[in-house]
Amino acid sequence: MGSFYITTPIYYVNDEPHLGHAYTTVMADVLSRYHRVMGDDVFFLTGTDEHGQKVEQAARDRGLDPQAHADEMVVRFQDLWKRLSISNDDFIRTTDPRHTKVVQDILQRIYDAGEIYEDEYEGWYSVHDERFWTEKDLVDGKDPLSGREVVQIVERNYFFRMGKYQEWLIDHIEKHPEFIRPETRRNEILGFLKQPLGDLCISRPKSRLRWGVELPFDTDYVTYVWFDALINYISVPGFLTDDETFDRWWPASCHLIGKDILTTHCVYWPTMLKVMGIPMPETVMGHGWWMVDEQKMSKSLGNVIKPLELADKYGVDPFRYFLARDMVLGQDSSFSETGFVGRYNSELANDLGNLLNRTVVMADRYLDGVVPDVDSSSSTIDTLRGTADETRKAVEDLLPKLDTSRILEAIWRLVREANRFVETQAPWALAKDESKRQELEETIYGLLEVMRHVAVWTYPVMPERSQRMWEQLGQPGDISDSQITDLTWGALKAGIRVQPGDPVFPRIDEVDVEAESEPTTEEPEVPEEPKDEDQTEEPDNLITFNEFGKLELRVATVKEAEKVEGADRLLKLQITLGDEDRQIVAGVAQHYTPEDLVGRQIVIVANLAPAKIRGVESQGMLLAASDGDVVSLLLPDQELPPGSGVR
Ligand code: MSP
Repeated sequence: MGSFYITTPIYYVNDEPHLGHAYTTVMADVLSRYHRVMGDDVFFLTGTDEHGQKVEQAARDRGLDPQAHADEMVVRFQDLWKRLSISNDDFIRTTDPRHTKVVQDILQRIYDAGEIYEDEYEGWYSVHDERFWTEKDLVDGKDPLSGREVVQIVERNYFFRMGKYQEWLIDHIEKHPEFIRPETRRNEILGFLKQPLGDLCISRPKSRLRWGVELPFDTDYVTYVWFDALINYISVPGFLTDDETFDRWWPASCHLIGKDILTTHCVYWPTMLKVMGIPMPETVMGHGWWMVDEQKMSKSLGNVIKPLELADKYGVDPFRYFLARDMVLGQDSSFSETGFVGRYNSELANDLGNLLNRTVVMADRYLDGVVPDVDSSSSTIDTLRGTADETRKAVEDLLPKLDTSRILEAIWRLVREANRFVETQAPWALAKDESKRQELEETIYGLLEVMRHVAVWTYPVMPERSQRMWEQLGQPGDISDSQITDLTWGALKAGIRVQPGDPVFPRIDEVDVEAESEPTTEEPEVPEEPKDEDQTEEPDNLITFNEFGKLELRVATVKEAEKVEGADRLLKLQITLGDEDRQIVAGVAQHYTPEDLVGRQIVIVANLAPAKIRGVESQGMLLAASDGDVVSLLLPDQELPPGSGVR
């Protein structure tokens, strides 16, 4: 059992939390929970950065005192983290005396050691924007950001002798390839360090900025906000106040940050630690940037994604899943709601939800809901067992790399394998043959055992939904108590009773998402009705029992699906009725993607005369309900042998 200390950046309280903040915090939570499952002792820290110019300005804009402003804003972060099931062990506000006291003690020590000196700072100051620039920053002699006038000022300030650690830092980064991840960020910093490294100005005169931690050796100054903020990573676990706690957690296992704050974490922070004689953190992980529909998120573009709205609309766990799955380690990712819903429907509703549902329902139907007593090393379920073992290895291997996206990919290989296993084993057929009883029991045991593994492996990402999976599988207690040591193949106990329940991942209707899309005027394309000679007109629309009996409705499994070229509304489906394969054309392409349908069971009119639709042969018609806007397929609510009749 090891210890794992992970941090997020502490967020500025100048604004509301958005998708980017939620991402880092959710990722830190997911990693924390995986480590807890692995049996590690975990300390997970997040918080807020409350000093400095940005916050002072935001407070001023609202006519508030900075502390009152921070007190109000911090609640938004804390509430959001509660809502997103964030399991942080502590929450630090940089205005908290337990932190400011340590910042001042550190400053005094470094000052006493002669590592901080006073000097004249010459530069250019933008009065309007309250920003300080060096000569080379200016663009056409003006503020490079706002383009406003700047004035030359000479200011006395305090400097930390950062430059003298340049060689040491390069050496440390070169000797510790895991110190900056991923590789591209490491190269970025090594590139940056090819230029001479200057000393760091760590003070701001109060005449310019009042909102900060006062320098202990000069009350006319406050501390530069980064020198204050970074220290949270050690002030919380007891640096200078509680040696035992500090030894327990430091060095941190991982500072998880966005790539925007790489230099502060990979240059300022290590040199600060070095001057204090503190060992380096193991890893600084700089993740990519969330864009929105390929653009940067910004207030002025009006495309800021609010995590709370997504969690409310689609559920907290699906939102967490999307974040952990979609962003490839180190790369940028573009958020789109349609992308989110597409992933939800195909990976959560279809792959995972469907597997859970068919497993539990078949156990219920064919084995009276009781987990059978079988030999878990039987050859029937050998492949499942092999893939479950690979999943475990993948998680163990990818967790130190912080690669949740590939961890989820590995888990989904198991899910998809199990779905294929259902098709090839066809438990509905085994159930009809008494001599196949043992194989049936092994098959269902294998599926239940896969689901138990999958529930535990997805728990760190989706804590609440996996608890629901756990309950449907009839497992006792709280899934959060599960450990990797429980995941031995065959440890699933016989005699437990499954508890079929509501779908854990009900489909999201994509119509709701594309509400803004243009209504189409195209006529719906439906197969031509065959002429039925016998049809007599009934004045009151009633049909007789015999007439209804003429309709042959059957359950079919969709094997393949593709769009019909040149027809927006049509999908061409290859289906099986068990003993017969057919092709049908369905006018549902605006409501279902081909991937939505593959592997699913639908209901069709099987004795409809074949018709050509847009030149494509259709041997039957699928049933769907519609109120004009919403189109919903009629699906059997339990897995059935393909070809089963509908009455
Ligand atoms: N207060 C400093 C951090 C001090 S840490 C000692 C700060 N705060 S911040 O509020 O601006 O948060 C920046 C962090 O938020 C990024 O490093 C990243 O973790 C997250 N994100 C903010 N916008 C983001 C995206 N668009 N995409 C991904 N994450 C980004 O910097």
